Amino acid sequence: MSQVDINFTPIEWSEKMATGVPQVDAQHRYLVDTLRRANDRLLGDHEGALLGEIAKDLLNYAIMHFETEESLMKRYGYEAAFPDVARAHIAQHRDFSRQVVAVCDHLREGRPVSRMDVLKYLNEWLRNHVLGIDQKLGAFVREAEARQAAEPPA
Ligand SMILES: [Fe+2]
Ligand SMILES: [Fe+2]
Repeated sequence: MSQVDINFTPIEWSEKMATGVPQVDAQHRYLVDTLRRANDRLLGDHEGALLGEIAKDLLNYAIMHFETEESLMKRYGYEAAFPDVARAHIAQHRDFSRQVVAVCDHLREGRPVSRMDVLKYLNEWLRNHVLGIDQKLGAFVREAEARQAAEPPA
């Protein structure tokens, strides 16, 4: 991907991204890997259909991942404990989905889409989200699970 000037920092997994919740971390690693492959493929060649395909795959996996996190929120009462953070978190998920759906719609309608802008958005969104609001949820889930494990069986 060296021949193209890019205006974003390609995402890379770092231990700082770990939330300590194994299922969430495995899904985050998968999302980061998928996006890294997408960066390489999209910046390396210019197949027309590729961007739409990648956006759709990423969206499908991301939606499944959002469901995982949002069901953890429900299971452990995140919204009751931190209503504003929980609402902001879910809003970030919805915003991501809306943006990627818009990209897919534009492509389907044959409207021009800048792959650089799309990649910039995806890389920045994923990095900021995983390093930011997902960390709060991870800490909350870890604590809730530890509390549950410490409870004597009923
Ligand atoms: Fe999230
Ligand atoms: Fe996440």
